[in-house]
Order: sequence, then C-alpha cells, then structure tokens
Amino acid sequence: MAAAPAPAAFDAAATFNTVCSTCHGSTGMGDGPAGMALDPRPASFADVAFWETRDDEHIFKVIKEGGAAVGRSPLMVGWGAMYSDDQIHELVEHVKGFKPE
Ligand code: HEC
Repeated sequence: MAAAPAPAAFDAAATFNTVCSTCHGSTGMGDGPAGMALDPRPASFADVAFWETRDDEHIFKVIKEGGAAVGRSPLMVGWGAMYSDDQIHELVEHVKGFKPE
C-alpha cells in the first residue's frame, strides 16, 4: 500500500473535483450543478475551439486573477489568494487534461 500523502500535499485533480467542478463539472464541460445556473455558463474544456484561442499563460491568469482579468465573466473569481503559483500551474495542467487530442 502506498504511504499516505503528506497533509500539505496539493492534488490538482482532487482540488478541481471539489472546488472547481461545482461550476465546471467533473469532466470540465461546464455542466457542474452551480455552473448550469450561471450566465454565461463556463465553456467546455473538452471543446477543441476553446483551446484555439487560449494558451497556458491565459489559463494561468484566469485561475489566479479571475475572469475579469482577461475580459471574461467575474463569476469566475480569482484563486490567487487560496493557491500558490505552483499549485495554479498544476491546476493549469489538470485543465489541459480535458483538451481533446
Ligand atoms: C462559481 C463558479 C465557478 C467556480 C467555482 C470556478 N469557476 Fe472557472 N469559470 C466560471 C465561469 C462562469 C467561467 C466563464 C467565464 C466566461 O466565459 O466569461 C469560468 C471560466 C474558467 C476558465 C476559462 C476562462 C476562459 O478563457 O474562458 C478556466 C480555465 C477556469 N474557469 C478554471 C477554473 C478553476 C481551475 C477553478 C477551481 C480552482 C474554477 N475555474 C472554479 C465559474 C467558476
């Protein structure tokens, strides 16, 4: 059996599933229970077109500073007060995991 992770260990997937998925959905399609009620609804990270106009830097900025920082909805709040830059980079990688090949 694997050793239990240190209490302070950051798990991007677990964070996404508990914190982000309420709006973004566990598969990143923008269909979380809270997300369905938003206007605009969060875009689907599984949509090829989404990735045509967004790079890592943009995704990082949105997560850290919020939607308003990139001219999008302020309902996507910034998480920079809660997560370190390293943790946000891990979240960026997790979000990129929804990108279709
Ligand atoms: C309260 C609901 C809510 C939560 C919780 C939330 N988001 Fe969002 N998020 C949104 C909305 C709404 C948008 C769409 C903004 C727009 O298109 O104007 C969005 C957009 C985004 C985008 C794409 C921005 C773009 O360019 O279209 C990313 C990436 C993102 N969120 C990541 C996250 C991550 C990572 C978390 C968890 C740390 C998170 N979000 C938590 C509501 C939420």
